[in-house]
Amino acid sequence: MTDTERIRALRETILRHDRLYYVEARPEISDYDYDRLWSELERLEAAHPELITPDSPTQRVSGAPISGFEKVRHDPPMRSLDKTYERGELAQFDAFLHEKMPDAVWDYTVEPKVDGLSLSLLYRDGLLLRAATRGNGEVGDDITANVKTIRSIPLRIPTDAALVEVRGEIYMTREGFAALNRREEEAGREPFANPRNAAAGSVKLLDPREVAQRPLDAVLYGVGALSGVTFATHSAMLRTLAEWGFKTPPWQRLCMDIEQVFHAIDELGARRHTFPFEIDGAVIKVNQRTLYPRLGSTAHAPRFARAYKYAPEVAETRLNDITVQVGRTGVLTPVAELEPVHLAGSVISRATLHNADMVQTKDIRIGDWVQLSKHGDVIPAVDAVVPGKRPPEAVPYRFPDHCPVCGSEVSKLEGEVAIRCINPDCPAQRVGRLELFVSRNALDIAAIGSRMAEALVQAGLVTRPLDLFAINTETLSTFKLISEDGSERRFGKKANDVAQALANAATLPLHRWLTAFGIPGIGETAARTLSALFPSLSAMQDTALLEEILAFYAAIERKLSPEDDRDLFMGEIVARAEALKPHGLILRDDPERSIRDRYLLTVKPEMARALFHFLKAPYATDLFARLAALGIDPKPEIKQASGNALAGLSFVITGTLSHAREHFEALIRDHGGTVQGAVSKKTSYLLIGENPGGSKYNKAQALNTPMLPEAAFMALLSPTPQAPEMPPPEASKEAAGKPLQAPSHPDAYVQDDFFGSLK
Ligand code: IVH
Repeated sequence: MTDTERIRALRETILRHDRLYYVEARPEISDYDYDRLWSELERLEAAHPELITPDSPTQRVSGAPISGFEKVRHDPPMRSLDKTYERGELAQFDAFLHEKMPDAVWDYTVEPKVDGLSLSLLYRDGLLLRAATRGNGEVGDDITANVKTIRSIPLRIPTDAALVEVRGEIYMTREGFAALNRREEEAGREPFANPRNAAAGSVKLLDPREVAQRPLDAVLYGVGALSGVTFATHSAMLRTLAEWGFKTPPWQRLCMDIEQVFHAIDELGARRHTFPFEIDGAVIKVNQRTLYPRLGSTAHAPRFARAYKYAPEVAETRLNDITVQVGRTGVLTPVAELEPVHLAGSVISRATLHNADMVQTKDIRIGDWVQLSKHGDVIPAVDAVVPGKRPPEAVPYRFPDHCPVCGSEVSKLEGEVAIRCINPDCPAQRVGRLELFVSRNALDIAAIGSRMAEALVQAGLVTRPLDLFAINTETLSTFKLISEDGSERRFGKKANDVAQALANAATLPLHRWLTAFGIPGIGETAARTLSALFPSLSAMQDTALLEEILAFYAAIERKLSPEDDRDLFMGEIVARAEALKPHGLILRDDPERSIRDRYLLTVKPEMARALFHFLKAPYATDLFARLAALGIDPKPEIKQASGNALAGLSFVITGTLSHAREHFEALIRDHGGTVQGAVSKKTSYLLIGENPGGSKYNKAQALNTPMLPEAAFMALLSPTPQAPEMPPPEASKEAAGKPLQAPSHPDAYVQDDFFGSLK
């Protein structure tokens, strides 16, 4: 097979699997096998750039950031829909059609009205040429590069038609929306109000690579310009779109008359929350497209269709009060205390107001009537103040300038919307910290729930999580908890579980403890990375290495003025990086890049800063003293468990693995191996994750460097079983479901085991 043929075959195979995965949600091959196909295609295309075509799957995320969007004209225009909330108006619609076309016979289709943003896709000779927003219906924005990143949208469709314009809706899944907002909030940024806004904001990002990270998808339900193809009915058109590989409305009904339409919209109404996207109604269309020219359209909307909107799941009620909750890190969150009201199936008496900015922007006042809805259908939120119902005495809400729990000062960090209580002894923060301390990724003391945490802090038994160690089991078991209904119960036997967990805590690895400390900005991943820098917890008191890291970042971030000596500047950075190298935290040293971009460290500047500030606070001094007194000095995980399984071996890592890359770097080093930035003759293995980088992969292929998928790599780490302990053949068959067995020799994982089948 020539490379040209192989490329074509790979594209077809990938296309088929893309469709199975992204459109039909029934994948046939593992991610791993898919990635192999993908890497091979990338490699061949890199070798033959002249063979790259715009519909190659590798071209989905391409192109550099742009400064703005080109305008495109829609022909025919993208019209809207006439909407109604009344069945009576739908009956009138039906009557009107009968009046206008007394001789005609038709049926109706009913499908969900997807709450996203309209999209036009233009295919010329089957190839995706252009994607555009609706804009004002006449002129929209060219968002081709961004839309190409949506994997369910085919880059080529199997048709002979010269021109096909497919129309539909871009949306963000509810799940994707929730995850995106969590990320936004963690980063201190303002969350998106709803999936629609998030989708709209995403398609208007100027960098396609960023868009590719956003959980966007699209449903296609119509056509615009057509040449070389016609469709007699809407349902036949949807069928063809589906055959071409588009996602079409996942729920459709064909109705013989308006009575059946009513039935269908009831059915859809009952299911409206079961779709991955939000729907804001049903769309009723005449199925016979041949009748459309007879019906024509108004300036606003075609006459063949109507949108029926479900009564919005919103409610109005009185805002009795605004309370402010204080979280573990001191963030103050305003909460609406509401006159209880029914909303989408439940009674709501509290709703989040997100942050001070939101209360101020919407000018929400105590005593106001407010509108509520369920965002993403779960979390009730206050959307707006009901105009005209404000009591005359209502005054603008003043966000507390002191912590409502402890009374100390609050402050707002630059670039964040959050306002925080700065007192680490705040009881609310104490409870929050205790909750974190006992959580699963930290010390994992399941017996202490949030009620117990609160009770312990309130009783004065715990001001700091470490106080847990001072409470004796007897006291703990007789400790009384008051339930919501007022009844009392003793903590009882659970006290033993707590004692057990505490006894075990000293043996937990360092990163679990670092996580447990709840240092702002240091979650589990950062804790793992940082813990690898120190031989033990007590060793952290020496902040010299952190200071070196910070000095390195300070050098990199320094702004240069024309008078500055550039060589001196570069010299300092190189020197500082060299000094850091023995600590194994340099992930990349690529002299080809610009000086500010040359190095990549395992430890990000925010991480180093966060840990440094924590260590310098008086709180930490005390913490170290107490841990020392308890005889607790946790060590990093891998250092303890590691042997020299990788001694003398050198690794290059490419692609996305199950953990941050630095995690694997640490694993390799801690097992005696070395990590390199690029593949060379000296490289023992390429550790290969998802979407491996082309150059490393190609080089490894060229040099015949063995490639290890993650599972095989992990197997390398465990010491080779001794002959007598080797499982009998039957046992290894039983284990066949597991990814891989430990190898008897590292060479068991040479390329052929994993890549041979493709050759
Ligand atoms: S048909 C000529 N079908 O709703 C109009 N529109 O409020 C063709 N929409 O601009 C539209 N789901 O963006 C149609 N199943 C569906 C729809 C749908 C959502 C949007 C569309 C339109 C808007 C009107």
